[in-house]
Amino acid sequence: MKPVDIYGNVFYNEDCITGAATHIPDESVDLIITDPPYGIKGDKLHQHYNRDENFVVDGYVEIPEAKYADFSLAWIKEAERILKPGGSIYIVSGYTNLYHILHALYQTNLEEINHIIWKYNFGVYTKTKYVSSHYHILYYQKAGKSRTFNLESRYGTCEKTEDGRSLNYRDREDVWIINREYKPGKVKNKNELPHKLLKKIIQYSSNEGDLVCDMFLGGFSTPTVAIGLNRRCTGFEISETMFRAKTREIDQSNVIKPGFMVPELREPVIKNLENQGRPWTSKEEDYLLTRYRELRQSGQNKKDTIEIIGEELGRGRWSIEKAIKKISKKDDNRQS
Ligand SMILES: C[S@@+](CC[C@H](N)C(=O)[O-])C[C@H]1O[C@@H](n2cnc3c(N)ncnc32)[C@H](O)[C@@H]1O
Repeated sequence: MKPVDIYGNVFYNEDCITGAATHIPDESVDLIITDPPYGIKGDKLHQHYNRDENFVVDGYVEIPEAKYADFSLAWIKEAERILKPGGSIYIVSGYTNLYHILHALYQTNLEEINHIIWKYNFGVYTKTKYVSSHYHILYYQKAGKSRTFNLESRYGTCEKTEDGRSLNYRDREDVWIINREYKPGKVKNKNELPHKLLKKIIQYSSNEGDLVCDMFLGGFSTPTVAIGLNRRCTGFEISETMFRAKTREIDQSNVIKPGFMVPELREPVIKNLENQGRPWTSKEEDYLLTRYRELRQSGQNKKDTIEIIGEELGRGRWSIEKAIKKISKKDDNRQS
């Protein structure tokens, strides 16, 4: 099939290795998110899951196990070539052929950032061993420029749970518990990634207008979310059946439009830290000491006192604590 253009995003019904070499220029992609075939007879993968096969689109193309190592190296080398310096790549992998993917990555200049574990529901049922219910997500970068990582895109660093834990820290832990989506009665790829997972990656690792690429589009979940979050998107799917069904579905959808997911995004609470990194003035130091004493005398605990002053002075917690120590030391020296 010819390439399909949806809202200026071009998708190719081709093998991603030769397809990328033909269509995607060097260092032109900001973010790659991809979920290659697992090399475990994925065309039979569905038999492990208790699902209605009538709605699984035929034509998931699997890679024979014997070819998996060479195949992995070839597409990962292409991914490395098209990624911009500072660009990020996330590869989803099962555990069976993980070593081939890791070995291929090892043969490139891509640098490891995190090895994420994604825990999902609907694990493979078994009676004689533990239930397998996780995937690996390998998060790497191409060195050369600073990497996009939008620290407060989902939760401000000041946001806390009711029992005082940081929401931002919790969201950035490297074990993600995200359920697969159950889409009864809908045409789907055998192994679609949940939108929630893709949203998280795209929010942290790209900005609006950036180009996101998926080398193995499958059910087109990466383009759906990328378009939904106002990113540009491109990618490859070798199966004509899948490609035709999914491009048509997105093209004719009344929901999937550029930016359609933006209104539903959570608004993080971001603290004003406009003075962070600036040297302290003596006026600020005087204010800090007076205000600190005042708040403590009024019964505030130390942690909340620092937080309040941080907000008032546009500085972070560490900076306030350091300044208090320094000023108190000066005060002690004066008094002795
Ligand atoms: C695990 S699925 C991707 C699922 C996708 N991330 C989603 O959320 O729907 C892998 C896909 O890669 C496709 N594929 C296999 N070999 C390919 C190749 N050489 N180039 C492009 N696509 C390929 C398969 O047909 C399958 O649809």
